[in-house]
Amino acid sequence: METHKITINIEQYTQPNELTQEDQNLLLEANNAVDNSYAPYSEFHVGAAVLLENGKIIKGSNQENSAYPSGLCAERVALFYANSQYPDIAVKAIAITAKADHFIIESPIAPCGACRQVMAETEHRQKNKIRIIMQGTNGPVIATTGIENLLPLVFQEEKLKKINKH
Ligand code: THU
Repeated sequence: METHKITINIEQYTQPNELTQEDQNLLLEANNAVDNSYAPYSEFHVGAAVLLENGKIIKGSNQENSAYPSGLCAERVALFYANSQYPDIAVKAIAITAKADHFIIESPIAPCGACRQVMAETEHRQKNKIRIIMQGTNGPVIATTGIENLLPLVFQEEKLKKINKH
């Protein structure tokens, strides 16, 4: 038996103004996206903003449903919209932020596993890494470039093909 250690790289910023102008702007758009969240059940409103390679920004927010699993996270709303409307334009970055009805979110929101998997597929499809910028309602920001930092041991398309060993 061997043990393998996997290193991930996460940047931490005490405040958003330490980020580049581009990152700050995207985070601001994610903040604006929170306003269109439909989250009457969890009362937890998430905003995501996707920056495309051509400079266009697409906003998404979580959309819940009384049949709970029918809802969708903010990140996937934004990414699926981007990939369906602009299939040939790469996703450069995504910013994620959130606001809860009854408490203040003071630490960064990291995307759920399913959203990470969708980010991995987007990266794989476009052959370019995505920058991911995360914040709570306020407080510190964390960021990273490349989904391998949030989803080590990712499931990818080549696993769908049988590898013939002889
Ligand atoms: N949610 C997101 O929109 N993104 C995440 O990465 C985590 C969770 C949403 C789903 C649900 O509407 C609410 O937040 C509470 O889980």
